[in-house]
Amino acid sequence: MGTPMDAGLIALVERLSAAVEEPTPEAITRRVKADLEDLLGRGALILPDRFRTARPDAYARRLLHQDPQNRFTAVVMAWGPGQGTPVHDHGGLWCVEGVVEGQMVVTQYDVTPQGDGFDVHSIGEPLSAGVGSAGRLIPPTDYHVLANGRHDGTSVTLHVYGGSLDGCRIFTPAADGRYAQTVRALCYHD
Ligand SMILES: [Fe+2]
Repeated sequence: MGTPMDAGLIALVERLSAAVEEPTPEAITRRVKADLEDLLGRGALILPDRFRTARPDAYARRLLHQDPQNRFTAVVMAWGPGQGTPVHDHGGLWCVEGVVEGQMVVTQYDVTPQGDGFDVHSIGEPLSAGVGSAGRLIPPTDYHVLANGRHDGTSVTLHVYGGSLDGCRIFTPAADGRYAQTVRALCYHD
């Protein structure tokens, strides 16, 4: 059939399938980042509308592709105005996150155990990421916050993980100035 959407998704899956054959997370994520910057930067991935639709309560998370050998998954998120994440990790998986539509604000964090809680500090200034920019994260230095940078519309991001990300840790402020850790189960929306 060969619609533009099919062509873009096929190209993405082919390139990711090749990239995950690299020998290390460092090499894999470098290549996946370059692939996303190329494909998203020239608008080669055209997503069906259901992937681009925000939900009222929190950001939407939808499965775009699951590698049959579970070497990677590709997940699309849609962010309404004001929506974002808490400080989180990625369940021990490498990941690369790219902007498909709109504008995102990304802030990296340092998380250190302290007593029965955690010390959490931002690293550097929040980064504004536009269409075609991508960032890579390799545990254990993969703590960050993502938020929609648009106040008047939806932004859309593509996340490639080194397996199935079923859960992650989130860190929320406690009364004593430290942060508490919670394990959050992740699901896919329709
Ligand atoms: Fe993330």
